[in-house]
Amino acid sequence: MPLNLISEEILEAIRNHYDIVDVIGQHVALRKSGRNYTGLCPFHSEKTPSFSVSQDKQFYHCFGCGVGGDVIKFVMDFESLDFKEAVLQLANGAGLNVPTDNQLPLDPNERLKNSILQAYELTNKLYQYLLLETEQGKEALNYLQKRGFSRALIETFNIGFSPKGWDNLKSFLVKRGFSLELLEQAGLIGKSDEGRTFDSFRNRIMFPIADAQGRVVAFGGRVLDDSLPKYLNSPESLIFNKSRTLYNLHLAKKEIRKKRQAILFEGYVDTISVWRAGVHNGIATLGTSLTEEQAKLLRRYTEEVSICYDADLAGQKATYKAIQTLQQAGCKVKVLQLPPGQDPDDFISERGVEAFTKEVLPSYITATAFKLQFLRKDFSLNDESERIKYITKALEIIADLDQAIERETYLKGLAEEFQLSLQSLKNDLKNIYFAKRKKKERDRDNLTFKWNNNINNGNLMGRTKTLYPAYHNAEKQLICLMLRDREIAEKVGVEIGSDFHVEDFAVLAAYLYAYYGKGYEPDINRFTSMLEDQKYSQLATKLAMLDINEEVSANELNDYIQQVKRYNLDLEIKKKREEQLMAVRNQDLAKSVELGQQIIQLRNQLRRGKK
Ligand code: GTP
Ligand code: MN
Repeated sequence: MPLNLISEEILEAIRNHYDIVDVIGQHVALRKSGRNYTGLCPFHSEKTPSFSVSQDKQFYHCFGCGVGGDVIKFVMDFESLDFKEAVLQLANGAGLNVPTDNQLPLDPNERLKNSILQAYELTNKLYQYLLLETEQGKEALNYLQKRGFSRALIETFNIGFSPKGWDNLKSFLVKRGFSLELLEQAGLIGKSDEGRTFDSFRNRIMFPIADAQGRVVAFGGRVLDDSLPKYLNSPESLIFNKSRTLYNLHLAKKEIRKKRQAILFEGYVDTISVWRAGVHNGIATLGTSLTEEQAKLLRRYTEEVSICYDADLAGQKATYKAIQTLQQAGCKVKVLQLPPGQDPDDFISERGVEAFTKEVLPSYITATAFKLQFLRKDFSLNDESERIKYITKALEIIADLDQAIERETYLKGLAEEFQLSLQSLKNDLKNIYFAKRKKKERDRDNLTFKWNNNINNGNLMGRTKTLYPAYHNAEKQLICLMLRDREIAEKVGVEIGSDFHVEDFAVLAAYLYAYYGKGYEPDINRFTSMLEDQKYSQLATKLAMLDINEEVSANELNDYIQQVKRYNLDLEIKKKREEQLMAVRNQDLAKSVELGQQIIQLRNQLRRGKK
């Protein structure tokens, strides 16, 4: 069902049925504080609560990370559902009847997606049956059991077996009404150059790959021996995007949220193996290095990620890369270490599940320690000039750390190891730090220049206190009032129009004019659902959440309006004065006099405004 076919009435009915405090309260411990409820934000890690839920207004906002919205948005974010899925889930829970597929025309793409999903689900059932219940699956089952996979574990992960032969799956699915064309598109069936079709997976142990909601969208199929390729993955399709999928996320997401931590593995088998050790927050990539999208996806569930890759050179290189990708996505990263040459599954086979939880899990190192250690392999530290190069590189890594204590710790390590004085290292570090900061400032200047804004817009969402000019507060107050009152919005529209100076406020004002123009009444949830850019819906939610005095007097309102207008006049006067100066320089007396008169008029206006 396309988004626009979900009617406004259903959305209203959902918002009316639920109390957002109850819904969020099921997942977050909320405490009443003033007019709102507060708790620890489930979307970023924090020690003091900045997550706020308003019962009056039926929405939430986090002053720490900026997320916010209504009950539907919360379910979308918390359960990682798209809009339609969240609406359906909430409607179901409320006993509301959303017009279903057979009442509404489905768009063809959506219909195709559903069919492919069905094909994968059926295939998975068939493969699992073949593995667990038939003679054909015996060898594979033995293999898995030898590797320590119990029946229960196999069932938890829905592992299956694709039989030998070219068309077992094909005839199974065709009998159930699937077209060859669709099965080919789904990647379940391949086609030879001569046009013959055949099962894509044959004689392989099948690991289903699910999306975050647990729907099977692909398979990874492993051979039973040493033949190659060891794994065969489903190709990308309408339902499967490799770089946006993480293996086991659907089973692990609850634990990831609860522990506020995820463990990232390289392989399917590793993820399953550690599950036996009670490690239920493990996920894995799908045979490629971690992508930016995967890192961002993960960041939606947790801030902290531990990497547990194979302890070989390839694994260490991949770890280094994954650290960068995760840190760029805003994650805090730790690295778990295994004995040389082993992967987590090897370790558990050799030492048992307890050894993993008792030895590997607690003995993590920080991302920085890992980087320093990884850097070593490029230098032969017996050679003095190499050693100096290493130390310089190491200092660059240390200079990136935010906390002085952290920097000091690693500096001490370096000093001890290489018999250097801490003070000289500190001096070098300072130089590197300032050089880096200069570069950053240059980059930032360019940014400000690019955005052409003299106001610190970037800080709007943050908690940093910046001194804003008077008109900034006036504009903010006006937007707050406009969000709550149609008449005020109309008055501001006439008096100020689009002449807000803070870019973000100008944009919100424009949206508000359009919103009221359509005849809607003040309703923050409806308003933000109109805003496509998340940045603005977050800003609007945040402003709606601010405790301002809603009974504003006409005087107060005028004051705000005048402050904004005054700044406009100030700007204009400045411009005219510059022009006048130019005229004087060019000895254009007439022009200079004319400009002088205009300036006087503007000044008079300013004075009138002040009254
Ligand atoms: P086992 O050998 O059964 O223990 O599996 P493993 O997970 O330890 O395999 P390995 O460390 O070799 O590979 C890690 C991950 O890379 C696997 O889980 C796959 O996702 C992927 N992978 C490995 N080999 C191949 C391959 O030949 N083709 C593809 N597409 N992916 C592979
Ligand atoms: Mn392995």
